[in-house]
Amino acid sequence: MIRIAVLVSGRGSNLQAIIDAIAEGRLQAKIAVVVSNRPAAPALERAKKAGIPTMVVEARGGEARDTFDTRVVEAIREHRAEWVVLAGFMRIIGNVLLSAFPMRIINVHPSLLPAFPGLNAQAQALRHGVKVSGCTVHYVDGGTDTGPILAQAAVPVLEGDDEQSLSNRILVEEHRLLPAVLQKLSNER
Ligand code: GAR
Repeated sequence: MIRIAVLVSGRGSNLQAIIDAIAEGRLQAKIAVVVSNRPAAPALERAKKAGIPTMVVEARGGEARDTFDTRVVEAIREHRAEWVVLAGFMRIIGNVLLSAFPMRIINVHPSLLPAFPGLNAQAQALRHGVKVSGCTVHYVDGGTDTGPILAQAAVPVLEGDDEQSLSNRILVEEHRLLPAVLQKLSNER
């Protein structure tokens, strides 16, 4: 049984997918803590509803990345999590966090990496006119969405798609893929 910390910034639908997978017995894992860098993130309510401890670690004005990361590492360690899942966490991870959990941080990204890293991946896909997109679960390294790939799922880009419709189609796959990868990692332990 792996103990995970889930880092969030917003809606938290991927967090919900993990919570549901655990509740339904598809994932043998425990969410030790949910950490948000935004106090108003709806993800925090999802965690509280599921009885999961939450912490808000907000970046202070002018704070160095290392100092912020140290506070996140402390929050994770306090709850004895050994894996870190970035589920819509919209901040670049620095060295302090990376080296505290080497090859133990994973991210879900809404494109078939290495295509369309960074922000607004679905809009980037539409702009380029690709006919297939999808999502990627990967280990986090020092780059932006560059770490070793664990799993991918593809979806078609359909005629008339806009950012919303494509995002929704990709999200269905994110919600399936992320818990499945976590279960695989849990089995390997
Ligand atoms: C998801 O689509 C996730 O892949 C994306 O943000 C969304 C978060 O949704 N992450 C990134 O773009 C990271 N570069 P959620 O808060 O409902 O899980």
